[in-house]
Amino acid sequence: MNICCIGAGYVGGPTMAMIAHKCPKVKVTVVDINAERIAAWQTDELPIYEPGLLKVVKASRGENLFFSTEIDEGIRNADIIFVSVNTPTKTFGEGAGRASDLQYWELCARRIKDVSESDKIIVEKSTLPVRTAEAMERVLHSGENGIHFEVLSNPEFLAEGTAIADLENPDRILIGGHETKTGQKALGQLVDIYANWVPRERILTSNVWSSELSKLTANAFLAQRVSSINAISALCEATGANIKDVSHAIGTDSRIGSKFLQASVGFGGSCFKKDILNLVYLCETYGLHESAAYWQQVVEINEYQQSRFVKNILQSMFGTIAGKRIAILGFAFKADTGDTRESPAIKVCKELSEEHAKIVVSDPKALDNAKLDLANLENIDFEEDVYKAVNQADAIALLTDWNIYKNLDFEKIYSSMQKPAFIFDGRNVLDHEKLFDLGFEVYSIGKPGLSHLN
Ligand SMILES: NC(=O)c1ccc[n+]([C@@H]2O[C@H](COP(=O)([O-])OP(=O)(O)OC[C@H]3O[C@@H](n4cnc5c(N)ncnc54)[C@H](O)[C@@H]3O)[C@@H](O)[C@H]2O)c1
Repeated sequence: MNICCIGAGYVGGPTMAMIAHKCPKVKVTVVDINAERIAAWQTDELPIYEPGLLKVVKASRGENLFFSTEIDEGIRNADIIFVSVNTPTKTFGEGAGRASDLQYWELCARRIKDVSESDKIIVEKSTLPVRTAEAMERVLHSGENGIHFEVLSNPEFLAEGTAIADLENPDRILIGGHETKTGQKALGQLVDIYANWVPRERILTSNVWSSELSKLTANAFLAQRVSSINAISALCEATGANIKDVSHAIGTDSRIGSKFLQASVGFGGSCFKKDILNLVYLCETYGLHESAAYWQQVVEINEYQQSRFVKNILQSMFGTIAGKRIAILGFAFKADTGDTRESPAIKVCKELSEEHAKIVVSDPKALDNAKLDLANLENIDFEEDVYKAVNQADAIALLTDWNIYKNLDFEKIYSSMQKPAFIFDGRNVLDHEKLFDLGFEVYSIGKPGLSHLN
């Protein structure tokens, strides 16, 4: 059995490494147009940071796991082709700012059609609008080469930062296939691959449309929980309630559950915003305006939460931050990844810069990406060493929940900062009372501020 995966990114790379690792008899080739990325997959400096990934890659690389830019050859030799290319939000034309940009996906479908010499199973691994498979099948079966392509949907539920654990022990695998003889046969073949390590009862099957829609729905529900608790955090700050107590009280209700109830500066990552906007666009396309408005609000609360964080900084620092040094601790959209796509830190830094603050950004894994994201801003420095970053700072804004930030020497930090020394905990992960006792002015999300000044 030969598998080819088109797209060696955050999903394609780790997913295929896990399949190769768990299925030694299957030959897995990951191809990409990005030669630099492919070269990096062949070294110990992998192109993405993900705890545990290098070990899994090294276990199979050169044995049954290969990375290559020979896309046509990869396609031709494959029985099953996973397509895991990016599907960003469209930036132009019809649906700009909301619809999914399917140009990379369609290019792949055309390439597969043009170079294939035998029947193949095509697996949608990318997150796609519901009914994409229909359009892809039309592209794949245009022309007269007599080859049959069976399209399956197999969305990926891994989360960056925990990708390896998620892939090794998934809550569920979802595979959608057509309710035809060939569809069910192909579906069975993909089930057999995952059954090498995933218990059969955790491999869910459905029709293609349910599978496509389930992925968008899963991300929309997760993001909705974050926006819901963040909306309540604003009300806590206005009323003296404490968001930690509220989260705990509602999270212990088994009907609600405790996960994704952590108030913060907002969600980020390449998927939540784009997938919700895609869902909004889909609803609009089907004339379901109320459903569209409902999901749109999840994105709006997220933007509001980020702006609100900056407004709180401005207000607490006496209405001006012009010329003040603000140390940003953490730029990745969450801990244990170097990915900064849609990170709240981007908007926060931009808004702080509009107020003429002097910003210094620190992050253990994401500084290269941060430099690209903030290339147009002036008055900005990058410093890997946290203690150098906070030296002489007027304020610290913690934006990523990296573990290292929880155990810093805050006594040393306090003495190196300008006074009054402000700390804004955008992830609610620090010990606020202890920081206050050290002398800090402490502000967090959804809790009353702790100030020595009034
Ligand atoms: N990142 C996540 O956490 C995550 C989780 C689940 C699902 N997804 C979905 O998976 C898909 C991929 O996401 P990602 O984060 O891995 O993206 P990515 O940008 O990291 O990787 C996509 C790769 O596809 C390559 N590519 C694009 N067009 C190509 C072509 N025509 N031929 C060959 N290679 C091509 C790009 O060069 C890039 O390396 C998206 O649809 C995303 O929504 C992402």
